[in-house]
Amino acid sequence: MPQTFTPGMVLGAKLVVMAIGAVVILVVIVAAAWSPIGAAAVDEIKSQPIPFSHKHHVGDVGLDCRFCHATVETQATPGMPSAQLCLGCHSQLFADQALFAPLHRAVERHQPIEWTQLHRLPDYVYFDHSVHLAKGVACIECHGRVDQMSLMRRPQELTMKWCFACHQDPAPHLRFGDDVFGMPPHEISDAQAATLNRFMRQLESRQRMTDCSTCHR
Ligand code: HEC
Ligand code: HEC
Ligand code: HEC
Ligand code: HEC
Ligand code: HEC
Repeated sequence: MPQTFTPGMVLGAKLVVMAIGAVVILVVIVAAAWSPIGAAAVDEIKSQPIPFSHKHHVGDVGLDCRFCHATVETQATPGMPSAQLCLGCHSQLFADQALFAPLHRAVERHQPIEWTQLHRLPDYVYFDHSVHLAKGVACIECHGRVDQMSLMRRPQELTMKWCFACHQDPAPHLRFGDDVFGMPPHEISDAQAATLNRFMRQLESRQRMTDCSTCHR
């Protein structure tokens, strides 16, 4: 039987297949790298074990962020409230509603409530809440008007571009002292602007703020 394919043709065909394979792998890697990160899309609402409302607890009742996210000033991660903390009020308030069953279950099992996470950076990015708060970056800059959210939403795509935009020029984003926990947008006086200006000179240089190893260590 005559040979239909010469060794040259076979090699050529193999090379074409390999090239297509390489392109497919490259496309997958690039797509993965460019796809938005985090557990949820911007403004997407995820179902939670209990439909907790920041609007009611922060906006109406007036609770401070630190009451529930107790380590936000001192650690990289803000911490989440325990079921006991909720029951501090809800063992009386609406106590017998089925809505609160997950709280009692969590206490019985000595387990935390499994809230669905909306914010998640990839593991190769270093982020620390306490540094940002100490330097005057308010919650609202990154999380938006939490006090108006009946259910939690994420107003930002947590992209490198977004981090960079502020790191290149943080001044307009900074507040004083406990104002970092405040929600309404604020106006600052001339005296405050002058103090802020002085304070800015104590911030890290723009070079260090945008250095790759600052966020990827
Ligand atoms: C009474 C307790 C309580 C208070 C006060 C509170 N939170 Fe929360 N927070 C929660 C609970 C419970 C969740 C998880 C359920 C959810 O996402 O709604 C949460 C989730 C969040 C999340 C989303 C986390 C994620 O990635 O899924 C952010 C951001 C947040 N809180 C910011 C704030 C800010 C900012 C304040 C102050 C203005 C605040 N919280 C005050 C209880 C509280
Ligand atoms: C300081 C007291 C206090 C704490 C602590 C507290 N709550 Fe509440 N909660 C309230 C009050 C007051 C209301 C009624 C708010 C309203 O109707 O305006 C309420 C209402 C609710 C409701 C009913 C729906 C709604 O939002 O109106 C749910 C569900 C709820 N809370 C869940 C929780 C969970 C989960 C926690 C713990 C993360 C928690 N609460 C912690 C005081 C508290
Ligand atoms: C400079 C931006 C920035 C500021 C300011 C900021 N956050 Fe965050 N927050 C983030 C990022 C980014 C994440 C995701 C972190 C991760 O995946 O490691 C996050 C995650 C969270 C979470 C989820 C933690 C978890 O374990 O699921 C909560 C709750 C939260 N922030 C609360 C707050 C509160 C309260 C404040 C103000 C007191 C605040 N944040 C200020 C950027 C910020
Ligand atoms: C709204 C402004 C703002 C945003 C958004 C922001 N940062 Fe920052 N970041 C700051 C400021 C201000 C500092 C403090 C610089 C200093 O220490 O002088 C800082 C400091 C840091 C540091 C240095 C901490 C250290 O150990 O010195 C890291 C790391 C960092 N940010 C990571 C991030 C990442 C990752 C993101 C995005 C997910 C982000 N930041 C978003 C304003 C911001
Ligand atoms: C202020 C914090 C910050 C700095 C500085 C920073 N990155 Fe990133 N980087 C991030 C965050 C957050 C992500 C994840 C989100 C994303 O992919 O946009 C990321 C993702 C990446 C990725 C994954 C692929 C991609 O683009 O999605 C690469 C590669 C990368 N960074 C390289 C660098 C290099 C190179 C530098 C220095 C020029 C740098 N980064 C500086 C915060 C930072």
